[in-house]
Amino acid sequence: MNNRIQYEQLLKNNKDWVSEKLNTDPDYFSRLSKGQNPPFLYIGCSDSRLPIDLFTGADPGRIFIHRNVANQVFLNDMNLLSVLEYAVKVLLVEHIIVCGHYQCGGVEAAYKGTSMNIVENWTMNIRDLSMEHKKELDAIPDMHERLNRLSELNVVRQLRQLCKTSVMHDAFGSGKYPRLHGWVLDISHGLIHELPLPVEEWKEYGLLPDDYE
Ligand code: CO
Repeated sequence: MNNRIQYEQLLKNNKDWVSEKLNTDPDYFSRLSKGQNPPFLYIGCSDSRLPIDLFTGADPGRIFIHRNVANQVFLNDMNLLSVLEYAVKVLLVEHIIVCGHYQCGGVEAAYKGTSMNIVENWTMNIRDLSMEHKKELDAIPDMHERLNRLSELNVVRQLRQLCKTSVMHDAFGSGKYPRLHGWVLDISHGLIHELPLPVEEWKEYGLLPDDYE
């Protein structure tokens, strides 16, 4: 398909989708325009293969979304922090999901360090993470498996980062706070795996409140 046609196709698809929606539910968009009340904040990778709404069957209005390369959480990222603040303080989301995925190009770039570009700069924390877990990672002979494990470690690390933000700190202090979840999406099967989180350890370090379940 040439460039122009594939671009025009997007707009055509939009028109088709809208009329299909209106056929089955004439009030759909007037309802949608009244506001949002999503129970979920999702922080995921920018990878084009991961539209989380589709993978989870979530309708528009259910998931508040932030995406960046390799689902990173930086304490000085105003983009992420403003999304987080709005989600936690205004939308009062009940769950925060950090979702990574297997076959993540950002994780691979960080691990292999083959090109000194901006992506590698952005994912430098994953490189540090891989050094911290060198022993465990080196023991996995298959490179795909090794990178997949690093994707999992990355999700848990970003959740730990999230606990350090002032937004979460305030929410934990108030006693009313969202629950945290670590996901990794296996693109080759389409399934989401829930990752265990070291909740007790994080409590010990004061990153989570004692009553967190
Ligand atoms: Co990715």
